[in-house]
Amino acid sequence: MDYNKLAEIAIKSKQRALPTYSHFHVGAALLTGEGKVYRGANIENSSYSLTICAERTAVFNAVLEGEKNFKAIAVAGDSPGFTPPCGACRQVLLELCGPELDVVLVDMEKNIKIYKLKELIPHSFSKENLK
Ligand code: THU
Repeated sequence: MDYNKLAEIAIKSKQRALPTYSHFHVGAALLTGEGKVYRGANIENSSYSLTICAERTAVFNAVLEGEKNFKAIAVAGDSPGFTPPCGACRQVLLELCGPELDVVLVDMEKNIKIYKLKELIPHSFSKENLK
């Protein structure tokens, strides 16, 4: 799938966000190697630390459906400029999607900027460190 199309799905996914406290909507669209797309959006909680980001709702949705092979994730925020994944999401994406995942950042004008996940989380901790 074209990354501009994936970006559109991430923008649309913002409609499902529940940003009750921050009022900051984030949408994500995770593309599998087989071309299927899983959506995500941030869901907040009055116990603030229980909030979950858009990227993690997308990847957990996909993993629950048995997906293991991922190509890209698009992330769209609610402010001018790009919304890069937070540190916690980078760590989770690295473990579940791998370092070669394309991270497609989307701004409000639908411009995109593409990184490899390994660029966003270099020198990372992983299960290899547990051995
Ligand atoms: N948020 C995401 O969904 N993804 C990110 O990568 C950055 C932050 C959400 C969490 C919270 O609901 C709101 O944005 C403000 O931090």
